[in-house]
Amino acid sequence: METITNPTPDLIKNAAKALKDGHLVAFPTETVYGLGADATNEKAVRRIYSAKGRPTNHPLIVHISSISLLNKWAIDAPEYAIKLSKEFWPGPMTLILKRSELAKDFITGGQDNVGIRIPDQPVALALLTEFEKLGGSGVAAPSANRFGAVSPTEVTAVYEEIGEFLTQKDFVLNGGQCLIGVESTIIDCMKESPRILRFGAITPIMVEESTGLQLMEINEQLLIRSPGSSQSHYSPKAIVLLDVEPESGDGFFADDSVETPPGVIRISSPRNVNQFAQQLYSALRSADALGLAKIVIHSPRGDGLAEAIRDRIRRAAFKSNIKVRKEF
Ligand code: TXA
Ligand code: MG
Repeated sequence: METITNPTPDLIKNAAKALKDGHLVAFPTETVYGLGADATNEKAVRRIYSAKGRPTNHPLIVHISSISLLNKWAIDAPEYAIKLSKEFWPGPMTLILKRSELAKDFITGGQDNVGIRIPDQPVALALLTEFEKLGGSGVAAPSANRFGAVSPTEVTAVYEEIGEFLTQKDFVLNGGQCLIGVESTIIDCMKESPRILRFGAITPIMVEESTGLQLMEINEQLLIRSPGSSQSHYSPKAIVLLDVEPESGDGFFADDSVETPPGVIRISSPRNVNQFAQQLYSALRSADALGLAKIVIHSPRGDGLAEAIRDRIRRAAFKSNIKVRKEF
């Protein structure tokens, strides 16, 4: 695999060419790192599934560089979806829309809809633009981690997760630390009103204000195919406990205002909710790197991004709760 630590325009062109030739390119976005393939190339897309160890009926998000490409992939987008796209793209939002003929079953997991996103990250946008100049239509990219594991928010985490599955012809683009740190908000736009399938930095209030519509409730059945919505996800190896007092030897991740009890290993002390999101996944990884058995997280309060963080840490803690319950 070729690693590009300083992705200049020329080097990004090489990576775009590799994508067009059917190779994989891991790239930064403002949310998390993605593992990209030409979304029209079935063989390349299959490699994403095998690198991640992900079931093939779980759909992938198609990344494009501009709203003008939306109608290549999606048809009959409702007016509120157009409003959302104009207001929040490029940005941390994925819209689920009725698929066009271009969005094949190997992208949508056989569903009649497709997830689309325009990321807000200069390297990602440059890669997509170059890829499109070469005749590409969109880049399928899940988070660049093994299925069920923590999403990478820096390039070293990409190697840890999927490095061994990449070949010499694949690329990894370094874009530093991801600004937001949790995955995009996913909004289902298949019904008369939007509904949120995954919380993220675009919050329910932002969606309601932008569309002037009330969000529809989530029906659990609908989420079966969304791995990010399985109860257990984003899991490190360490046991994750939420909102308890940490004990000596535990890793601890809490807001800056909370003190570290004696003997406790402070992993991170974010000063606000944005930093909390940005540092969350790397904190979970560093707990594993330090070989800690347990990490205690104090949940951030409030709505908006804090809600997205609580959603992720609950899932990160899900397996631990089962383990801990069995021990007692
Ligand atoms: O921030 C993000 O969204 C990152 C970056 C790389 O763009 N991508 C990402 O992809 O998180 P992934 O595959 O790790 O998570 C996408 C989630 C999955 O749970 C997938 O099942 C769901 O979105 N999804 C994708 N297309 C869908 C569709 N058509 N209908 C329902 N869920 C869909
Ligand atoms: Mg993921």
